Order: sequence, then C-alpha cells, then structure tokens
Amino acid sequence: MRAWKGMRDSGRAAAAGMFLWMGVFCLAQRQASVTVYTDRPTHAISPMMYGLFFEDINFGADGGLYEEKVKNRSFEFPDAMMGWTVIRREGAQGEAAVVSKQPYKESDARALRITVDESGKGFGVSNEGFRGIGLHQGREYYFTVFARVPSGASMPLRIEAVSPSDLKVLEGSLEVKGADWAFYQITMKAAVTEPKARLNVLAMSKGTVELDMISLFPVDTARQADRPIPGLRKDLVQLLAEVRPAFLRFPGGCIVEGSTLALRYQWKNTIGDLRDRQTLINRWNTEFRHRLTPDYYQSFGLGFFEYFLLSEQIGAEPVPILNCGMACQFNSGEVCALDKLGPYVQDALDLIEFANGPADSPWGRVRVQMGHPEPFGLKYLGIGNEQWGPQYIERYKVFEKAIRANYPDIKLIAGCGSEPEIFPNGPAEVAYLWSQWRILKPDIVDEHFYRRYPRFFELLDHYDSYDRQGPKIFVGEYAAMSHGVASPENRNNLICALAEAAFLTGLERNGDVVVMTAYAPLTAHVEGWQWKPNLIWFDNLTCFGTPNYYVQKLFSQHKGAGYLRSEVKVEGSERLYVSVTEEADGKVYLKAVNPSEQSILAEIRLEGGKAFSPKARVVVLRGGAEDENTLDRPDQVVPKESEYDGVGSRFVYEFAPFSLTVLTLKP
Ligand code: AHR
Repeated sequence: MRAWKGMRDSGRAAAAGMFLWMGVFCLAQRQASVTVYTDRPTHAISPMMYGLFFEDINFGADGGLYEEKVKNRSFEFPDAMMGWTVIRREGAQGEAAVVSKQPYKESDARALRITVDESGKGFGVSNEGFRGIGLHQGREYYFTVFARVPSGASMPLRIEAVSPSDLKVLEGSLEVKGADWAFYQITMKAAVTEPKARLNVLAMSKGTVELDMISLFPVDTARQADRPIPGLRKDLVQLLAEVRPAFLRFPGGCIVEGSTLALRYQWKNTIGDLRDRQTLINRWNTEFRHRLTPDYYQSFGLGFFEYFLLSEQIGAEPVPILNCGMACQFNSGEVCALDKLGPYVQDALDLIEFANGPADSPWGRVRVQMGHPEPFGLKYLGIGNEQWGPQYIERYKVFEKAIRANYPDIKLIAGCGSEPEIFPNGPAEVAYLWSQWRILKPDIVDEHFYRRYPRFFELLDHYDSYDRQGPKIFVGEYAAMSHGVASPENRNNLICALAEAAFLTGLERNGDVVVMTAYAPLTAHVEGWQWKPNLIWFDNLTCFGTPNYYVQKLFSQHKGAGYLRSEVKVEGSERLYVSVTEEADGKVYLKAVNPSEQSILAEIRLEGGKAFSPKARVVVLRGGAEDENTLDRPDQVVPKESEYDGVGSRFVYEFAPFSLTVLTLKP
C-alpha cells in the first residue's frame, strides 16, 4: 500500500493526480475507480446479517467443543467397550465386562463391572479419548465417576493419564465405598503437555467394583461463571465469540433430520441430567465411505440447554432448527405420516416454552431447574433443514398453524433444499418450493450454497431478482469448494475465502432481502473430520481460524447499519468486488475484494459532501491464492491492521493482489 498524501482533499490535486496516475503506473496494476454515494443509503443491513452455524460433524461437539476427554464414558455405544481396552499390570488377573445397570433405566442402561481376582499392580481399563486425549501442562482436570462396590465393601482406584510412551501426565486415587451408586470426584494437575494421552482406571485390590460415566474434564472451561454445567472448550469458544456473531444456528443441518426418523435429533433427549441423555449414533459416522468414522456418537453433553447458554455467552440470538417429520432425503427420506405428526409439532411448541416460558409452565420449569431462571428470549425457529417436495410443504403447514396460533411472535424459518445442482431434479424442486413459500409466507427462507469457488463470483447477482415483498432470506449454509462438494481434497485456501467475500458483497447489496448468513460447517478435528472445507480446525490441544474464518470475522465486524450505493469500474476484465456500508455514527466501511494476481489502483471518489478524517483504519487479509493456515502455521493468512493517511473526497488506494481490504472512514 502507498500513502498518497499529496492527493487528498483537493479536487484539483486529485484530478491532477489522476492524470499522472494514468500515465505513470506500470502494467502489473489495474486501474479502477470506485464512486461512493455517502449521502444515499439504499437499505438497512440486518443486525442479524452474520452468524454461526454449528453442527456436530467432524467431531464438532463430542471430541471438539464439548471438552469431555473420555469417549464412550457411559458404555452406551452399541459396541459397549468401544474406545476402551482392558489393562493388567504385573501380576493382576480379573475381568472387565459391561453389564446391565441396576437399577435399570433405558437412557442409562449399562455400567462397567471390574472383577479383580489378583490385584497385582492394578487391573482395569484404559480409554483412548478422541484420537487421543489432549492435556496441557499445569492445567487441572476433574476425574469424575459414578461407582459402587456391590458387596458393600470398598475398592481403591488408581487414576492416571499416560503418554504413548507411558509417561505419567495425570495421577490420582480414590476409594469407592458401599453398595449404592455414588459420585466421586478428584482433581489432578497435568505434569506435561501431551496431545495423545490415554486415561487409565485401575482397581487396586481384590473384589468387584462397578463404574459408570467415567469422565475427565478440564477445570477451566468456557463455563459461564454462575452456571452449574461443565463448559465448553475455551479456545474454540473464544474463536466463535471473536466473530461477534449475531446468531447461532444449531444443532446443524442433516443431523437434525437423521438418516432415519428414529435417528433424528430430538432436543428433549439432550437436556436434563447428563446420565439421562441417551447416546445416539452420529449420522456422520457412516455418511461418507471415504471417511467412515465408526466411533462417532452423540453423548449430548452439548445439548439444547448448552446451545442456548453458548448463544448467550457469545452474544448471539439462538436459532434452533427442528426436524419437520422427514428424515434426510439424501438418505432414507423416511416421512412421518401426517396423522402421526403430533409429537413432532408438540416438540416445537415445548421448545418455545422451554426457552421462553415462565417458571410455572411445565417446560419453563425444566429450564429453571437446569439453572437458568431467566427466559432465553427465543425469537426464531427453523422447521426442517434441506427438505423438498410436497411432503415438506404439507408438514410445514401443520407446524406453522400450531406455532402461529400459540406463539405468533416467533419468526419461522423454512428450508429451500440445497442448491439446484446437487438436488435430485434440482431447479424444478426449488421452483416448486418457492411457488409454495410465496403463498405460505414463512418469515425467512433458508437457502444453501456449496459450490466450486469460481461460481461464487457469478452468484453476486443471485438475489437481485428476488421479490422485495416476499419472505426474507437466510443464506443458512455456504462454502466455496476448491475441488467439489464435500470433496476430501477441498482446501480452506485464500482464493476460496475471497470467493466467499465477493459473494458477501452481493449479499450486502441485497441486504433488503438477505437478512442472515452463515458459513458451514463451522469446526473440524484434523483427524476426525468427515467434510471439508470448514471454518475452524483444531486438534486435541489447539485450534486455528482459516482464511474463510477471517473473512467472516471481517464482514461481521464491519457490517454497518445501512448500505451505500457505489459504482466500480476496472480496466480490462478484472473485477473489484466492493460493498460500502455505514454505521449509525457515520463511520463508513469500504470492503473491497481483489481476487486477481494484479494489484488494483483505484481512485476512490466520495460523493455526497460528507467530510471524513484523512486517517482511515485499514485491515487487509492477503496472501497467495493457495495459501492456507495450518496447525503449524496458524497465522499465514490473517488480517493485518494499519492506518492510511490520505482520505479525501478523491483519493487513490492500491488494493493488493488476492486481498480483502476493509477501509474504515471516520467522519
Ligand atoms: O454442512 C454440512 C451439511 O451440508 C449440512 O449438514 C447439510 O445441511 C448440508 O447438506
């Protein structure tokens, strides 16, 4: 970037400068003009414009945001010992087996029974965690367990986390006493940092002990101070919060639907006591043959109550999406008969009561008992995810009638399938859905875009033709693919991020129709992923934002309140994608995307007579087209901030190759 101090403020200087500029600058640059009409906002930018979409995919919840270190802690996976192995230390003999828990409860059916015949140096079990257990030196961890000794006697337990080379990372002990189930907790401090530890639980004397809900959890999590629940992974929550998201959509996309109706997401099974949250297979377990993840289940430790808390914690409106009586149409497509839809609709009504109802309402009481007396202030509810066909419309109507009758203020979000290209019978299905939405008028229609990145540059005008009087639009999932939809080759590189940024300039220009947007999916474990690309990557110890993440962050932090008309002209065939918005206090954000390998030297003309400080804040995200961030190099492509001293009614600014630039002009 160059400072063009001499050219600011005076029209005469600017004109002379332009003249010089046209002649002097070399061919490696393109020249452009950007005219901004500062006195003519065309429409408001929705305060809900930028939010987050969370789904338990790629170890997003279990193994990710939900910081439980133990996989299959309650032995409820169909393969009851998945994640566990039996260990016998010198001289030890015994047996470890999963048994029916007494007293029996369907949601908490099993426990581990360890019978020690010879204690030797310890007999027990070892858990492998989620691709290992990540522990940080000096951090404290709670080990907790429900346990009993059926004979009524006692059993000493030794607890340890060990590295792959058997180095002790955590060590502790406790004594289980008596025949009744009781809760035990100890705190241990990690001696070293270890990404791939295992947790060992060893019985140290002869006898029998039963264990359930074996858990290892950091003491210091993103827990809200006054909340009784264990919190979420701090570094991930921090990245989410820094986007300053206006909303959090949860619990996802296809996971809402389930591959069959029996496997759909049912929010009522995800609240209350952790032991009563019945484990369910994660639909991404078997979705992709090339990325089978047989150990992927949902413990629901991160359930609906926690999603509401997380929304509150990061300052986002909660936007839950519910199953509409249809399983994923890319899978079984199973449909609930209309006359059996009652419980599904009741789930929606009860969810609104759970979120907003008073303490003396049945579901409001549950929220209060869980530790949140104040209502969550739910305003939005999605009915169905990527559904299509007349069966969806029939079911939506039933939900709509019941919800509007009971809760007329709740804004309803209806789906619009997925993009035509990957829809069976694509464009016709979308056209059909829209013909219905125009009549039924849901408040918001949710459209998804997963395309190869060049397509995003062409989608800028996509919403120009949408009916301004019709439903508003939620671009509820989108991501630019470097290779193909959900291809394992996809990269989170800068050119894809810039394609998304260009797309967003088109969405802001259509901000009178498009009121919400979210990139998808949000998070992925570097060893536990099924889908690429993703906004944030993590391993067991750290995480990083992709260039796509920084695009989200920059747009969200510079969304503004009103859209200002602008005109862009670039010489040759290159394009500069520009969106200009203003805050209520008069600050103007000029966001410009240059996705070409040449810099663009633009004369910026501020029309409308408003005066701005000569000093502008500049934030630039730039690099090589293929550049990515990685665990080793998390900051290869990150925004850099500087100051530009040269703003005037006419000034020249050089937009770097492969860049997103945000200029903040201060009145
Ligand atoms: O984001 C991944 C998946 O893509 C979502 O679950 C689904 O809604 C879409 O098909």
